Amino acid sequence: MKGIVVYDTSYGNTKKIGEIVAETLKESGIGVDLFYVKDLKKLNARDYDFLVLGSPTKFGTMSLTVKFFLGRLKSEEWNNKPFAAFDTENPENIEKARLENKEWSAAEKIAEKLKEKKMSQLLPVLKALVLGQKGPLVDGEIERTKEYARQLAAKLK
Ligand SMILES: Cc1cc2nc3c(=O)[nH]c(=O)nc-3n(C[C@H](O)[C@H](O)[C@H](O)COP(=O)(O)O)c2cc1C
Repeated sequence: MKGIVVYDTSYGNTKKIGEIVAETLKESGIGVDLFYVKDLKKLNARDYDFLVLGSPTKFGTMSLTVKFFLGRLKSEEWNNKPFAAFDTENPENIEKARLENKEWSAAEKIAEKLKEKKMSQLLPVLKALVLGQKGPLVDGEIERTKEYARQLAAKLK
């Protein structure tokens, strides 16, 4: 069992979440490659059993780089493989989504796209909270991410 964790980041917060997910999966005995999306020149689906994809939330959706990455992901290579999605976003974004009853989360939009490609969602998305644009992550989010990754590992086994 080996997967790939791919993230985009501008200020390092989403990178941190990706690193924790990858580390925790490894501690649970699962093989993982971790990539900053812009460093991932070639992705061969045959090398991986699952995908974890994360993005900072920008204007209520994923970053353009993640959008392009998803555009290149071939459904016929990835269908039926499991995935999970995460994002970083502000606490106000969650409140806005609740009030408007509408999704403003990068991770939810990533999950929609991956389901369109017939991949199977392992867990509800992880929305890690950051303050402002540069962060930091809200207290407790690192521990919550570790717990999320432990649950992912349990689902993968
Ligand atoms: C251009 C821009 C637009 C943003 N739009 C949103 C938004 O719609 N909702 C939100 O919660 N955060 C928004 N943010 C804050 C980002 O979510 C935050 O910068 C990001 O989570 C930090 O992750 P990073 O350190 O990995 O770049 C925006 C930030 C930038 C720079």
